[in-house]
Amino acid sequence: MYIILLGAPGAGKGTQATAIAQKLNLAHIASGDLFRQALEQGTGLGRQARVYMEKGELVPDEVTTQMILERMSAPDSEKGAVLDGFPRNLEQAKALDKALAGQSRAIDRIIAISVSEEELRKRLGGRRVCRQCQTVYNIVESPPEVGGKCDKCGGELYQRPDDTAETVKKRLEVYFEQTAPLIDYYRQKGKLIEVGGEGTIDEVTRRTVAALNEGELIAR
Ligand code: AP5
Repeated sequence: MYIILLGAPGAGKGTQATAIAQKLNLAHIASGDLFRQALEQGTGLGRQARVYMEKGELVPDEVTTQMILERMSAPDSEKGAVLDGFPRNLEQAKALDKALAGQSRAIDRIIAISVSEEELRKRLGGRRVCRQCQTVYNIVESPPEVGGKCDKCGGELYQRPDDTAETVKKRLEVYFEQTAPLIDYYRQKGKLIEVGGEGTIDEVTRRTVAALNEGELIAR
């Protein structure tokens, strides 16, 4: 089973993908996390991605698609995966469709999470991430028990460099120009589920699970 989570920066793709992947026992594949990991490890891929990420632009399609397809062929993705942050434009969506068709597979559902621009900016400004285990917090909505420290592993929490107001502005522009058109692309394929992303994290998870239930992707 393959599920795509679509949404603007800060819509809660990563937060909801973690919950859904756990519930359905699927791999969680997040393109942004894979790039940040590569960056942390100082690999060639990381150095290449950094240039684009710092500016809030998309990393070139060829590099991104190859990275994701490789990750999707790992043993933990055998039963399927929740894709978070990929595809991000029409070219990537078509490359993914083609690669899956080559294995007689297809995307089962696309969940588009919508959140107002004001709320997106607020969430991104308050996001903190654990340097060690990548758990995501929000200093307003879901703060850690001890300020600056991860509840799970005690790691240091940091603010992503692309969460500054200037880079967020660029990321939102890129989203509306290049990624939002995917909503229509998948709607036409009859596989789109639209979920309101405002409310608490648990409320959005319940809405998403209910929508997947309606599509009979989760056994009742
Ligand atoms: P990426 O890491 O994918 O960033 P993004 O899409 O901009 O998404 P975010 O991670 O910012 O947000 P999210 O929707 O996951 O929200 P989250 O759950 O964290 O990409 C970064 C960069 O990598 C790109 O700019 C690009 O350069 C490159 N890249 C990645 N993929 C690529 C691709 N396919 N092609 C080319 N380049 C690519 O939540 C945000 C905050 O809100 C958190 O603090 C969270 O706790 C909080 N929150 C979540 N839900 C709620 C709620 N319901 N109420 C209140 N707060 C909430």
